[in-house]
Amino acid sequence: MAEELLIGENLSKEEKYKALLPQLKGLVSYETDLIANLANLTAALKTTFNFFWVGFYLVKEDELVLGPFQGPIACTRIAKGRGVCGTSWQQAKTIVVPNVDEFPGHIACSSASKSEIVLPIFNHAKEVVMILDVDSELLSTFDEIDEKYLSEVIILIETLL
Ligand code: SME
Repeated sequence: MAEELLIGENLSKEEKYKALLPQLKGLVSYETDLIANLANLTAALKTTFNFFWVGFYLVKEDELVLGPFQGPIACTRIAKGRGVCGTSWQQAKTIVVPNVDEFPGHIACSSASKSEIVLPIFNHAKEVVMILDVDSELLSTFDEIDEKYLSEVIILIETLL
């Protein structure tokens, strides 16, 4: 398998996502272990966009439990309905937060995190089985481009479940 991603440094954000997606498909096609693939996906997103924190929380019984991630250490467990991640799980929908200080109940794993996007990932029974959380040190980092292409990453992950 390719050992490094090929993403031009001067590309726009959308161009980077377009260049990255086929490489992500290739990356996960060589490995059957879900955790190994999730781990590499977080590394690919973190290194391509230099996001502050990229990671998965896995639904385990009645909580989200920290899974593969890249970035500073984070909260290990999040209750359903708590913070952005717990709310995305409860509502089974993507949440974009331009300013975490204005999101009621936001869980501040790090005070450096200023904006975030959280996307739910569904199994074949349409249950949320994990969430993808991407955090930025800047306000208003995430827009419809991130939502569109991170949704493609989610669809890729759902094919692995
Ligand atoms: N920001 C999240 C908590 C997880 S971390 O930021 C890694 C939230 O409020 O759900």
